[in-house]
Amino acid sequence: MMSKRLENLIYKKISRRKLLKNAAAGVASYAVIFNLPDEFLNLFTASKSSVKSDEIFFRPIEPSSADELVLPEGYSYDIIRKWGDKISENEYYGYNNDYCVYIPIDLHNGGKSSDDGILFINHEYPHPLFVSGYSYEDMKNNVRKSKLQVELEMKSMGVSIFRVRKEKGSWKFVNDRLNRRYDGTSEILISGPAAGTDEMKYAYKSKGTVQNCSGGITPWGTVLSAEENYQDCLDPKELRWGDVLKDFTEEHYGWMVEFDPFDPGYTPKKRTALGRFRHENIAMIKSQDGRLVCYMGDDKVNEHVYKFVTEEKFDSKNPDKDILDHGKLYVADFEKGKWLLLDYETSNPLKMHFRSQADVLVNCPEAAKLLGATECNRPEDIEISPVDGSVFIAFTNNYKKDDHHGSIVRIIEENEEHTSEKFRWEVYATGGDESGFSCPDNLHFDSKGNLWILSDIGSSSLNKGIYRSFKNNSLFMIPTQGTMRGKVY
Ligand code: FEO
Ligand code: CA
Repeated sequence: MMSKRLENLIYKKISRRKLLKNAAAGVASYAVIFNLPDEFLNLFTASKSSVKSDEIFFRPIEPSSADELVLPEGYSYDIIRKWGDKISENEYYGYNNDYCVYIPIDLHNGGKSSDDGILFINHEYPHPLFVSGYSYEDMKNNVRKSKLQVELEMKSMGVSIFRVRKEKGSWKFVNDRLNRRYDGTSEILISGPAAGTDEMKYAYKSKGTVQNCSGGITPWGTVLSAEENYQDCLDPKELRWGDVLKDFTEEHYGWMVEFDPFDPGYTPKKRTALGRFRHENIAMIKSQDGRLVCYMGDDKVNEHVYKFVTEEKFDSKNPDKDILDHGKLYVADFEKGKWLLLDYETSNPLKMHFRSQADVLVNCPEAAKLLGATECNRPEDIEISPVDGSVFIAFTNNYKKDDHHGSIVRIIEENEEHTSEKFRWEVYATGGDESGFSCPDNLHFDSKGNLWILSDIGSSSLNKGIYRSFKNNSLFMIPTQGTMRGKVY
């Protein structure tokens, strides 16, 4: 039974010949004292010291189709910011929140404040009607967006960074010098091997960051934001941007972008060594030999799972803040349990079809397919278990393979060494009526090793057909240790 499921899970590699054919067609410095708390740095090691819990500390709710946020008994929520609210004097909260990370305000002083911190939020994409007044009728009638409409949409994406504080039991927005926005019009640097190359139109800067999906925090206290569906900004039928903004360069989007929430003077950087694809998020861990290892998914049907290994070892007391500019990028072959190196210099197939390593990095999906990487069922969030260092991946679904409910797959690196080029894997949980969840998207581990899963049944399928019984998208918890291990709540 298992093998059949595995077969359904991973899309078969397409023939090399077909691929070859397809391929042919196609600095500011700042001073922060690094005194990060051990508890924070432990997030980046598989400490194997997580607390076991045999208690389910909330009363799970039933699926609901009510148009409201339904919480378990004893829980409440505060609205801190909403679209259009002020972030600073002249900056406003963006549209469609995605990634949300809380960073203790005293992080760099060895602290872990849980009632005073910075919120870092991604804004993924605009709804044209609300943001720029561009209607469905306009689209049907081939009306072009004005420059102003395009700019309004560009400004609604990117990230919001602002201070929050808990006062008398409620969370509040706080005006602060750290509060700011970066959007589709901000200046962003391009860093790493592709910067300044002809593949990037010789640029060291890009206009803005867009389609910011999920992300990840680094062990030096910065945040990476994932540019996901950048093609939506490029499709003339969709947003009609390319012909409005003449300086728009397609290759400048689809990267992981690094921000320093503590330093308003830091210009964010697109880290090209991490490759260009529809980035969903990033999860980092320090390997046994001290190098950093980053896992990333390309959220598209029949796309891939990637891993980046830094060249240098990570020093928490004196971190090299550009450590992500140098290293090796791999892509997963689930059939052979191997990480395939995307390296122009040492790969004949890559040399035959690309011009340089920059060309490989700009066109990761094509390079990955050329090497025979496994086509997956929409790899979304990836998170690393704090209990044993295994790597959990949410495969959301794949309509092309009749995988409607998705699954969660777990990778175990050879010898538990994250830099290893070999791995084993298993299906940890499958979506469907038996488990009660469908279309897993964002993942997170808490300190007890409980896996949290947010579902993302697309709005056009929600509460309909085979998805009806799951009702609205929900947050699920699976304990990964203790007597409740593997049960879904
Ligand atoms: Fe923006 Fe793949 O979720
Ligand atoms: Ca997502």
